[in-house]
Amino acid sequence: MPASAGVASLPELLVSTRQRTLELMAAISDQDLERQIDAIMSPLVWDIAHIAAYEDLWLVHRGGGQPLLRPELAALYDAFETPRAVRGEIAQLNAPQAREYLAAVRERAFELAAQQPLDTEIVEMVLRHELQHRETICQTLALAQLSGFDPDFREPLPGAPAGHSGLEFVEIEGGDLAVGASGEQFAYDNEMPQRELRVERFELGRTPVTNASWLEFVSEGGYRERQSWSEDGWAWVNDVAAGAPLYWDLTEAGQPTELTSCGPRALDPDRPVAHVSFYEAEAFARSRGARLPSEFEWEAAAQWQGGAPSDRSAANVGQASFDTAPVGAYPGGAADCGALDLIGNLWEWTASEFDGYPGFRADPYPEYSEVFFRKGYRVLRGGSWATDGRVATPSFRNWDLPQRRQIFSGLRLARDLPK
Ligand code: AVJ
Ligand code: FE
Repeated sequence: MPASAGVASLPELLVSTRQRTLELMAAISDQDLERQIDAIMSPLVWDIAHIAAYEDLWLVHRGGGQPLLRPELAALYDAFETPRAVRGEIAQLNAPQAREYLAAVRERAFELAAQQPLDTEIVEMVLRHELQHRETICQTLALAQLSGFDPDFREPLPGAPAGHSGLEFVEIEGGDLAVGASGEQFAYDNEMPQRELRVERFELGRTPVTNASWLEFVSEGGYRERQSWSEDGWAWVNDVAAGAPLYWDLTEAGQPTELTSCGPRALDPDRPVAHVSFYEAEAFARSRGARLPSEFEWEAAAQWQGGAPSDRSAANVGQASFDTAPVGAYPGGAADCGALDLIGNLWEWTASEFDGYPGFRADPYPEYSEVFFRKGYRVLRGGSWATDGRVATPSFRNWDLPQRRQIFSGLRLARDLPK
């Protein structure tokens, strides 16, 4: 990845990425950083210190051959040795100590960079790791509903032409398609090796499904209509007594409200339905005589002559808006097939279970992807407002459990076409 005019160098990117992480931390009190906000999430300060530990491990220790700065913290900040379930109860660095740890590791990284060129792959991995944990932090912030949370760097969203519902379709030609990443640019192990795959002609939603469309599903009793739900989905919906997306508040008659990390607002019919589980997405699709696309169908649609959108001129990405935009608000980011919002706004559930591509090789460590293969995780594609544009590429595969809805998830419908 050569540094050229107008393109930030990797050290510059490390600096600018860190700056935003610190700004995000500054918008949260130390007390809120240190408490466990929700049982399924880490205390925010764990994510922060884990970012530092990961940088020290990969960039300085493995990449630069130096001993760890704080070897006694390695197990505490290893995601597998210290799983989320116990992160709320164990002793760990407090907020000032975590800030200090971040800074001390970064100082070592730059000392190393002064002696030898940094490994491009490792820097990219470390950078994206920080960016991905910032999305996790955004999930926790939405759960937290902190009063008055409104970071200085928050950016306004465009309005949109109303009238999209998520129920209009565009035709996808299909054919033999290169799926996955070629490896010319940085990609995760689970995106490789690239291969050719046949995708049959099908129809894909022009936009994600909107709140207006979902509100109809709720009103017509969709959550209680057995035939729309899979067996597992039906068990889930009854188990948690779900009757609406996670952050909908329907208690005030005639005034549906949606909670965001920056507080409640009126439920916007033109915004995409957010914080639905895979089970809900699947049931909605069935109720409309449709289905979810496979991840390969999604990728077949995610093609742009001039390159995929990667910044806020063409997509709601970058962890700056703290909200979804109305669907179709970025016409400049339309894919060649006419689909809108493929990149950014919300992750889109696909029908695919997370698995390795044929010929998969764990790189650089099996715990990034491989340990999650064939365990019932579903693939999500496209990134959300809380995903950095650097991470939300057309071949990037996110995954989560089918019942999860604290993630920034929505859906787009798909339909077969007669052969
Ligand atoms: C790709 C978002 C599922 O957060 O568990 C962070 C990214 N991997 N640290 C996750 C990740 C290691 C991962 N996801
Ligand atoms: Fe991590």
